[in-house]
Amino acid sequence: AEAEQGLKDAYRSDFLIGAALNKPQIEETDAKSNALILRQFNAVTPENCMKAENIHPEWDRYDFELADKLVAYSQKNNLQLNGHTLIWHSQLPAFANQIQNLDSFKTFFENHINTVASRFSGKIFSWDVVNEALNEDGTLRNSIFLQKMGPDYITEAFRLAAKASPNTELYYNDYNNEQPQKRAGCIELIKKVQAAGVRIDGVGIQGHWHLGKVPFKEIEESILAYHELGLKVMITELDIEVLPRNFQGADVAQRMASDPSLNPYAQGIPDSILQQQATDYENLFKLFLKHKDKITRVTFWGVDDGQSWLNGWPVPGRTNYPLLFDRQLEPKAAYHKLMGLKK
Ligand code: G3I
Repeated sequence: AEAEQGLKDAYRSDFLIGAALNKPQIEETDAKSNALILRQFNAVTPENCMKAENIHPEWDRYDFELADKLVAYSQKNNLQLNGHTLIWHSQLPAFANQIQNLDSFKTFFENHINTVASRFSGKIFSWDVVNEALNEDGTLRNSIFLQKMGPDYITEAFRLAAKASPNTELYYNDYNNEQPQKRAGCIELIKKVQAAGVRIDGVGIQGHWHLGKVPFKEIEESILAYHELGLKVMITELDIEVLPRNFQGADVAQRMASDPSLNPYAQGIPDSILQQQATDYENLFKLFLKHKDKITRVTFWGVDDGQSWLNGWPVPGRTNYPLLFDRQLEPKAAYHKLMGLKK
């Protein structure tokens, strides 16, 4: 009997369908979850295990254990493996944040890219070489990399990665880089790498969007603009969260405990909200299909609602519903809409 078709099959002639995997999925601790992954997806991204904090915990110590497991899992199951991420200001190991000497910082930077990129050379399809280097206004974020190395650190990162892993595709990845100002900064950044004669193959639009506020027009403009630069375009971290971010401040975790309105769907979510989310996802995928000649991959940031990072951000204890599969791993309305688009 023909195996049941999943998203990856429905969209096979259009683009890859990916998911970010965290430790439990890489260690295959839940057979049902791993069966779901293999049915639905043909690309994977490590949600955390290849970030510097985890893979390079000390100056002269690397920990490849979980990343190697993911390589083996991807090879065994014929999944495209997209590395995330070499250079990112967040989730840096503590030692890196404490380096004072400029030469030492540059040595850390070079060692990190050389060691990690060459380790996975030939085993990985792509790297998000630089992640989230831009501010919302399109200027460069005042990260430790900018402070210690100046604006050329970005080109330098791509140059080192290309040398260490010559057959791996190299991407720039960011959130909100579909918004006009940030997009302009992103285009400038890409052009600078290209002008230096350094290889950059693609750009990731992360796609952390909000229910009822998906910026369709800006997304389409960005797909076209990045494609114009000769780059592959990918949606790399897709989710549509349903909870408002109408709260701020350090006391919010405490307030959440006494104010249920800050976590309105703790006991379940009304079907009307899930229908609205399904429509948002459907309209997004209609747009992606319209530009399937420019988009090579759409990756969700997680597999099911229960393990999404959005249950823990900006404070822990939220009950969010951003993905296509629910906490029992059952497909949601959005999943059926996306399959329906291809019927
Ligand atoms: O693994 C440890 C565990 O041992 C420890 O007990 C626990 C206690 O806090 O922490 C665990 O690590 C957490 C890790 O996720 C694994 O679950 C970290 O604290 C937590 O900070 C980390 O969050 C990740 C976040 O990046 C870090 O900034 C999220 O899972 C991950 O989804 C998120 O992903 C980012 C992308 O890389 C870049 N774009 C935005 C996206 C969402 O923030």
